[in-house]
Amino acid sequence: TTTQSCDFVLFGVLGDLAQRKLLPAIYQLERTGLLASDTQIIGVAREAMELESFKENVEQTIRKYVDSSEYCNDTMQRLLGKLHYCLLDLADIEAYRTLTQVVDNKKRTPVFYFATPPKLFPVICDGLASVDLTAQPARVVLEKPLGHDLESSRQINKHIAHHFDESQVYRIDHYLGKETVLNLLALRFANAIFSSNWDHTSIDHIQITAAEQVGVEGRWSYYDDAGQLRDMVQNHLLQVLSLIAMEPPSRLDAENIREEKLKVLKSLRPITASNVQTETVRGQYSDGFVGEKKVPGYLNEEGARDNSRTETFVAIKAHIDNWRWAGVPFYLRTGKRMPEKRTEIVIVFRAQPHNIFRESLPDLPANKLVIRLQPDEGVEIQMLNKVPGLGKTMRLNTTTLDLSFDETFSNNRIADAYERLLLEVMEGNQSLFVHRNEVEHAWQWIDSIIAAWELTNEAPKPYKAGSWGPTAAISLIAQDGRTWDDEL
Ligand code: BG6
Repeated sequence: TTTQSCDFVLFGVLGDLAQRKLLPAIYQLERTGLLASDTQIIGVAREAMELESFKENVEQTIRKYVDSSEYCNDTMQRLLGKLHYCLLDLADIEAYRTLTQVVDNKKRTPVFYFATPPKLFPVICDGLASVDLTAQPARVVLEKPLGHDLESSRQINKHIAHHFDESQVYRIDHYLGKETVLNLLALRFANAIFSSNWDHTSIDHIQITAAEQVGVEGRWSYYDDAGQLRDMVQNHLLQVLSLIAMEPPSRLDAENIREEKLKVLKSLRPITASNVQTETVRGQYSDGFVGEKKVPGYLNEEGARDNSRTETFVAIKAHIDNWRWAGVPFYLRTGKRMPEKRTEIVIVFRAQPHNIFRESLPDLPANKLVIRLQPDEGVEIQMLNKVPGLGKTMRLNTTTLDLSFDETFSNNRIADAYERLLLEVMEGNQSLFVHRNEVEHAWQWIDSIIAAWELTNEAPKPYKAGSWGPTAAISLIAQDGRTWDDEL
């Protein structure tokens, strides 16, 4: 079955996000037969362009970003038939009238996707309101960054709320569209072996790592304003953490899931000047090698300001102050220019109360559940087994039960996060989108860390590009007698 008929309006259609992610995702939905035949895709940008040139642009984009094995002329023709182009200066409130010539909210659901810098969100809202396009059933999709701190995110949310009801607003966190992030729900709530062990009585601590090889990729000025804490932790890592830590929602719907995630964010223990030095580490990469490639340090990147103190790496020891997680630290770590791209969650279980194997193994290594989110998607359980043999003492070894998605589901294509998210928007399901309250509580926690960093006035610690971050990140976990997962 196809999705509802939509007028899908893409503000900023010639921008990087639309070209790299959104148009290819729309193509994939068309290929899978999920777009209703009368759905329209309306590209909006400031450049004068004939419809034919726009179609050429879209075709080239799809050829560039979609795997050639998935390119199909019929699909392309069907998609081209759905395209419209609207020349519009977003800042000009009078110009929005042109949209009413293509968008018909009596026949189809209007979906307005703001793939533009957030400073334009207010004027786009005002423009849409001026031509009466904001009323139900219209939906609005917002891209990050949703503000720079709590105050600015409130301002954005307030402006949006002035024109749209919360039930019309879809805030994107693309991590929520990843198959493996969604699989956290299945893993936790469909498997009895995990649901009864998922708390402080069984779990010693949890590690969440999001390492990237890339640097700032030519967006120094955006990145320098944000830093790794705002760019990755405020949104992606806290969303993943919420899904791991939340109570079972009573139903798999937006209201219940988002309420449970919100409770986790509300329970995060604030980090303040008194503990920021023991609970967080900031780093900034210096010249080094990623693989064989020599790469410049952050301060030597193109367009860099050479005295910047922005962090490109952060490690945090977080606590969730509630019944389930009392005494269980969540160690978060994320950085640019790490040795490899790897996003994973490691659940480390508690030690056995008594070791009957101490003759051969004085310390029993902990069981670990490793959830690999990307790039090599899978789930792994590390456990002890007897090494076969007739020796008098029993020898044990850590062995791994390894489920690779690629091998197990070899016939299933792993969809890009944006395909799923666009599909959900068209279906009107908000479960995988972030509620206003979640954004604001996440900012509140992040703001307190930033304020504490400012008070203690600590410069980020240098780390070599291609390493796992400053040595202080190792001490952060070692001071508790623990280590980052060996494999890293
Ligand atoms: C984006 C950040 O939100 O997520 C980027 O702005 C980061 O800095 C990216 O590189 C990581 O996404 P993914 O899907 O590659 O893990």
